[in-house]
Amino acid sequence: MWEGESLLYVLRERMALPGSKNACEQGECGSCSVYLDGILVCACLVLGGQAQGRDIVTVEGLASGEALHPVQQAFVEAGAVQCGFCTPGLLVATHDLLQRVPRPTNLEIREALAGNICRCTGYAKIIDAVQLAARRMATR
Ligand code: FES
Ligand code: FES
Repeated sequence: MWEGESLLYVLRERMALPGSKNACEQGECGSCSVYLDGILVCACLVLGGQAQGRDIVTVEGLASGEALHPVQQAFVEAGAVQCGFCTPGLLVATHDLLQRVPRPTNLEIREALAGNICRCTGYAKIIDAVQLAARRMATR
C-alpha cells in the first residue's frame, strides 16, 4: 500500500468494501462518509496510513447480517433512494445524526445532511426517511 492512498481507495480497492462511494474525491459530496473512531468523516480526505489501527465503520457495518438497520429500511420504504449513489453516505450521516439527536426537526436534518449531496431526489423523501427512522428507533 502506498501511504498517499486515501482511506476511500483502501476500503474500495484493497478491502473489497464498495459501499462508500467515490463521487468527488474532494470532501464536497459526502458520498464516502464513514466513521473514524466514532467520528463522521469523508473517507476521501483521510489517508489510508492515518487510518491504520483506528476503528472504521462503513455503511456495510450498519446492518446486522441480513437485517437492515432501521435507517436503511426507512430509506427504502420512504422512496429516498433513486440512483443510490449518495445513499451510503446519507445512511451513515443519518445514523450519526440520530445517535446525537434522536428526534431531529426538519431543520436539524437539513443542517446535519448539508454535506451530503443528492442529484436525484430533491431531498424531501430523504427527510421523510430520516423522520421515519427516528420514529422507529424511538420505539425500539
Ligand atoms: S467522494 Fe468524498 S466527499 Fe465526495
Ligand atoms: S439518489 Fe441519486 S444522487 Fe441521490
